[in-house]
Amino acid sequence: MPIIIVSRNSDEDCFNPFFLKPITKLIFKKQIGMVGFDKPYNIDATKIIKLYLNNVPLIIVGGMRSLKEMEETVGNNYGQMILMSRPFVRELILLEKFKEGKIDRVNCESCNRCLAAVAFHFPLKCYVNSFPTKK
Ligand SMILES: Cc1cc2nc3c(=O)[nH]c(=O)nc-3n(C[C@H](O)[C@H](O)[C@H](O)COP(=O)(O)O)c2cc1C
Ligand code: SF4
Repeated sequence: MPIIIVSRNSDEDCFNPFFLKPITKLIFKKQIGMVGFDKPYNIDATKIIKLYLNNVPLIIVGGMRSLKEMEETVGNNYGQMILMSRPFVRELILLEKFKEGKIDRVNCESCNRCLAAVAFHFPLKCYVNSFPTKK
């Protein structure tokens, strides 16, 4: 099963001046947990899109967390490929861990802290246990 990763930015790409940090923190707090997106939420949409695309391969993204969900998605032909974003932010060596049978689910809480962080030019990483204001 092919899996695609979104690109990661480096610390050098990041610029968050000190005077923006308090504002960042306030806005950031509001965003946490606002949108769950913690289940494969694009399956229904994919089923409809497929009706119009005939045999065009589809990449399905959004909320994939367990191997079972991924296998079901591809097995049921909802999409031909899986794309994941936050799972790789949380667990960079996710694929190795799946392959070695060490885990069958990624421990990403879909809290969106990482998304909020990059929107404010903080480095891309998992911030589930911290606010990205300690840089
Ligand atoms: C840090 C981060 C950056 C993202 N940047 C983009 C983006 O530039 N364009 C876009 O269409 N989606 C972007 N997304 C959304 C992801 O592509 C994806 O649709 C979303 O995170 C749901 O998938 P997931 O549950 O695997 O994270 C981003 C997500 C994250 C977490
Ligand atoms: S901050 Fe960590 S737990 Fe929260 S959505 Fe991003 S990767 Fe998942």
